[in-house]
Amino acid sequence: MKLSENTSVSHVKIIDLPVVTDARGDLTFLEGERHVPFPIRRVYYLYNVPVDAERGGHAHRELEQVIFALSGSFRITVDDGDEKAEYWLRNPRKGLYINRLIWREMDSFSQGAVCMVLASLPYEEADYLRDYDEFLKSARGM
Ligand code: TYD
Repeated sequence: MKLSENTSVSHVKIIDLPVVTDARGDLTFLEGERHVPFPIRRVYYLYNVPVDAERGGHAHRELEQVIFALSGSFRITVDDGDEKAEYWLRNPRKGLYINRLIWREMDSFSQGAVCMVLASLPYEEADYLRDYDEFLKSARGM
């Protein structure tokens, strides 16, 4: 298993959002199917995350997501069953798009970090792959 930085895991990419800046501060916006490649069906956010917490540890059968650090920072390790890559999110203008069938783990949350996730589907536990071997079988089409 290779560990690369920010490159070769397929179906994962950084999305850059616009910013409108003036003396009153910065404003960033996004629209479903324009700035993110799917209609947004759900938004959730993580906060009050202990700095030593580990989140994620699953993939999704169909769900697509874009993950943002609205405040603070954290690390996301993504794995397509073949290669891993790690991303540090710390800029509210840059989201990480994660397609279906990507295993993700999140850790190294800074104190007070806020993580916002845009999702292509409503919550459904049956969409989760929480067992790594089961994920590998799905990712490899077995
Ligand atoms: P989970 O997706 O496993 O969290 P993370 O990937 O951040 O570690 O979700 C944690 C719990 O919250 C789990 O019991 C399912 C529940 N949950 C919902 O009820 N609705 C949601 O939209 C999400 C994302 C989670």
